Amino acid sequence: MRFFAVSTLTLSAFVSAQSNSVDQYISSEGPIAKAGLLANIGPDGSKSSGAMAGVVIASPSTTNPDYLYSWIRDSSLVFKVIIDQYTTGQDSSFGNLIDDFVTAEATFQKIPNPSGNVSTGGLGEPKFYINETAFEGSWGRPQRDGPALRATAMITYANYLIDNGNITGVKNTLWPIIQLDLDYVSSNWNQTTFDLWEEIQSSSFFTTAVQHRALREGFALASKLGETSAAGGYLTQADNLLCFLQSYWNPSGGYITANTGGGRSGKDANAVLASIHTFDYTAGCDAATFQPCSDKALSSLKVFVDSFRSIYSINNGLSANASVAVGRYPEDVYMGGNPWYLTTAAVAEQLYDALTVWSDLDSLNVTSTSLAFFQDFDSSVQAGTYDSSSSAYSTLTSAIRDYADGFLAINAKNTPSNGGLSEQYSKSDGSPTSAADLTWSYASALTAFSARNGTKYATWGAKGLTIPSSCSPNSGPTVSVQFNVNATTIEGENIFITGSVDTLKDWSPDDALKLDPANYPIWQITVNLPASETIQYKYLRKNNGQVTWEDDPNNSITTPSSGADATHDTWR
Ligand code: NOJ
Ligand code: NOJ
Repeated sequence: MRFFAVSTLTLSAFVSAQSNSVDQYISSEGPIAKAGLLANIGPDGSKSSGAMAGVVIASPSTTNPDYLYSWIRDSSLVFKVIIDQYTTGQDSSFGNLIDDFVTAEATFQKIPNPSGNVSTGGLGEPKFYINETAFEGSWGRPQRDGPALRATAMITYANYLIDNGNITGVKNTLWPIIQLDLDYVSSNWNQTTFDLWEEIQSSSFFTTAVQHRALREGFALASKLGETSAAGGYLTQADNLLCFLQSYWNPSGGYITANTGGGRSGKDANAVLASIHTFDYTAGCDAATFQPCSDKALSSLKVFVDSFRSIYSINNGLSANASVAVGRYPEDVYMGGNPWYLTTAAVAEQLYDALTVWSDLDSLNVTSTSLAFFQDFDSSVQAGTYDSSSSAYSTLTSAIRDYADGFLAINAKNTPSNGGLSEQYSKSDGSPTSAADLTWSYASALTAFSARNGTKYATWGAKGLTIPSSCSPNSGPTVSVQFNVNATTIEGENIFITGSVDTLKDWSPDDALKLDPANYPIWQITVNLPASETIQYKYLRKNNGQVTWEDDPNNSITTPSSGADATHDTWR
């Protein structure tokens, strides 16, 4: 009995010590993060010289990695923080900076680039030079989350201006920019994209989730502005996106699979980030939109976090339900494959968001899907609804708050004394690594701190959505492409093709498609490929099981938006 009392005391002393140290971290790191974020925005940011007005640099790092570019994703997430602070009266000095951002993004939209021009797919271009010119080098493009995230940031601002009587300003300046992005999302959501980590070309949960949000709130804005012809299309596609969103759930694994391609486990911060960036406190714990406190999002969070317990040595020796450092996804090798500040902060943020909603609802619901998550905090808990007056509710919510604080405490421990936040910290000793002063790291600290306070931001209309009973298939328009290659062969040898899309068998030499030699030495095959996409491919020779590939580089074809196309290649 006595022993029990002492250990309880020790535990609660630990809890409040941690909570105090997180309080302290927030009070020192909060201003540093805000200043660090502003330092990376042109024209006046102290670390972003050369960036045009309103242009966000990803990081001042110019080598290993070179991040002196403006990514649409990073910039939009950063400005969402600034716009949220401005529109909720936390910082009234941001007005001019937001107007600079709007002007800069309108410029980026119109710069012809390797993804196309403003009307042929150029809005999917992931990054630009900070002097507002196109980056022409090879890159994972397109990335279709950018236009959606940008629209969401600007819609938040537009709604605020309308509420303050400036409907004309919104119609003349913001709406044309927002409309371009929404039209792009509305017509391309069902085509493949590179994921937010710029690595895998398939469909991606984060992208689908943020596209859904953008079209949903875009529909509401269009209606307010009387833009009725645009609005209907957005709503139809929002329903299709909501439908498609459900398909990422892996019921046997209990988690959200990040990407439809890529051959990985699919456990990925992608899903945590999607949950916090589509959080709507009015939607309760709705699983249709994977709200932070939904059973699916909580189960997924557990599976994701658990995947890092044994792979980083800084997590060694911690108990099986302790907070740990997390990275992008367990298979990651980029820049050493380490924990990231922004993914670790995102886990804390999802949990704080969940706590805010449970407190609003005055209850917490444990389902068979979320049971394993909750049992980490109280092994005896069973499925059921726990009213805020119950002891299960207090036990669980205080343990979960402590767990959330634990993730921030780990970031705090690995933050250098000057408060600078890089992209990653070493999995073996916690020292900062990869790009220094990553703008998105600062933004992620600010949003997590704000979530810990329970601060609420504008709803985007996630409440009470119904998943349509039948989904339109997630396959875009296709075009017929005839591949012709002039190849001289010897007896017994055949020509095959494989390439970067499913129909070309995803670079599999085993499954490569055989061409027809009826017009020898021209070998031919006709296949239906996704429209308006740049696709890489190569021919191979097979002779009695022996495979010979064409030399590098890959061949590539950009398919037309409709109709048919043909190639006239010569074996290399
Ligand atoms: C650069 C991208 O920014 C990063 O996300 C990716 O992991 C690496 N390239 C490796 O592909
Ligand atoms: C690499 C990350 O994977 C990507 O999401 C980000 O946009 C760029 N770095 C720039 O920060």
